[in-house]
Amino acid sequence: MCIIIMKMKNYNLKNTISFKEGVYFEQDEIYAPLVNAMKEYKENPCTGFHIPGHNRGCGVLNSFSSLIGIDALNLDTTDEFDNLGTLFPSSGAIDEAQKLAAKTFNSKRTFFLTGGSTIANLALAFALTCPNDKIAIGRNCHRSVLSGMIISGANPQWIMPRKLDDWAIYGALSPVELRDRLEKNSDISLVWITNPTYEGVVSDVEAISRVCHEFDVPLIVDEAHGCLWNFSDVLPKSALECGADAVVHSLHKTGGSMTQSSMLHISKNSRFDVHKVEHALKLLHTTSPSLLLLTSLDAARAFLSSKNGKAAIENAINNALYFRERASKIKGVQVLNSMSAVAFDVTKIFLKVDGLSGKRLESILELDFSIEIESASDEGILILSNIGNTQDEFDILLSALEKIASSNYPDLAYLEGIKFMPLTAPEVVMSPREAYFSRKERVKKEDAIGRICAEVIALCPPGISVLLPGELISREHLPYLSDFSEIDVLIK
Ligand SMILES: Cc1ncc(COP(=O)(O)O)c(C=O)c1O
Repeated sequence: MCIIIMKMKNYNLKNTISFKEGVYFEQDEIYAPLVNAMKEYKENPCTGFHIPGHNRGCGVLNSFSSLIGIDALNLDTTDEFDNLGTLFPSSGAIDEAQKLAAKTFNSKRTFFLTGGSTIANLALAFALTCPNDKIAIGRNCHRSVLSGMIISGANPQWIMPRKLDDWAIYGALSPVELRDRLEKNSDISLVWITNPTYEGVVSDVEAISRVCHEFDVPLIVDEAHGCLWNFSDVLPKSALECGADAVVHSLHKTGGSMTQSSMLHISKNSRFDVHKVEHALKLLHTTSPSLLLLTSLDAARAFLSSKNGKAAIENAINNALYFRERASKIKGVQVLNSMSAVAFDVTKIFLKVDGLSGKRLESILELDFSIEIESASDEGILILSNIGNTQDEFDILLSALEKIASSNYPDLAYLEGIKFMPLTAPEVVMSPREAYFSRKERVKKEDAIGRICAEVIALCPPGISVLLPGELISREHLPYLSDFSEIDVLIK
């Protein structure tokens, strides 16, 4: 049943139940203007002489169109056409969809993006930082934050999050340490943190935000992995509720939109100039945004705001709790949980099996059980309990883990000495931008020790940097460089 609760340009939000501010859960389906506009577009084809040249799927390989379905090609269009609206400047159904998203996430302005959260981070850096600005950044940031620093010429002042050594992952960022840093460096003009961590560990963003407000320093939270938080009181509080100035959400990661689609929110009380951010996005974003991706953002926002969406999120949480409880009872399996004295998003489950590295466990699950997990690191694997998962799937995973934990799978010798999660503190010699644009040469990694790095080395996932331009390369980095035989370094 489809109940339209909001009409075009006449948002009637009365008679709905407020679950969290800006989020409405009464209807099975919620109005999605861009989805509706695309339906119109599909059902009323014109004779087209425009981009994309395949013209609704006519000019493509047959096996490709039957693989992905003619509907997908029919809807593969960009903005500017057919009353769908434009992204920059925001107009038509796209504008309406963005405004509804802003209402849902309780932001001043929400931008739809088709270049992932990468483009959001790049644009924020481009818009809000200047050459030589000092920016306090959590070292576990995604490499896109760093690419932003290379573009702008700002200088990162690294804040090291806690390390959970037994798990070989980053933990929370300390508000106390941040306060200390801001006290000693009155010229820091921006704080940029990643929350949650890739593995779901959560920092106290409310406290961090309070510190930032005390020092009148704006706060950006890369909440790429936390876009569901807005829709559940069981999940951590979204940074938009905690006083952050800008928040990045990869809706495509866990929010149900299509790969590459993301949102950037500027909060209601943001100290940032929205127009500056919009201008930067205009310069950096593709001028041909995929309407399919944009529409999937509208659909995801509508779904998550609906009764069905609420049920899907509750299901993801319940499945996670179900799995956590049973997995922790399997002999030889350890699950990162509240016993480990960290706050986390329950839907992100990091676990390890005695005697196996995370990478080895990942390959056993894939090769012997046809199970694909989110990622693996030195110690453990990351499993996501998603809005699209069923409890049956978790039973399959539990059964596989039981078998693995009670077998004698050998860990593989080739993994010895190789590390994946960079937990190294950097020794910064010069700014990323200065090093990136300096004269460089490519040398064998063993010969790079003692030299200044000239490239971004950050494998995905999770895209956390091992080395950045301007940092001194040491022997400590070698275990993290197994994928590299040579590295760009500055010419002496
Ligand atoms: C914390 C964080 N921020 C930003 C990104 C970039 O997101 P996207 O892949 O949507 O460009 C990622 C990607 O993994 C990430 O983990």
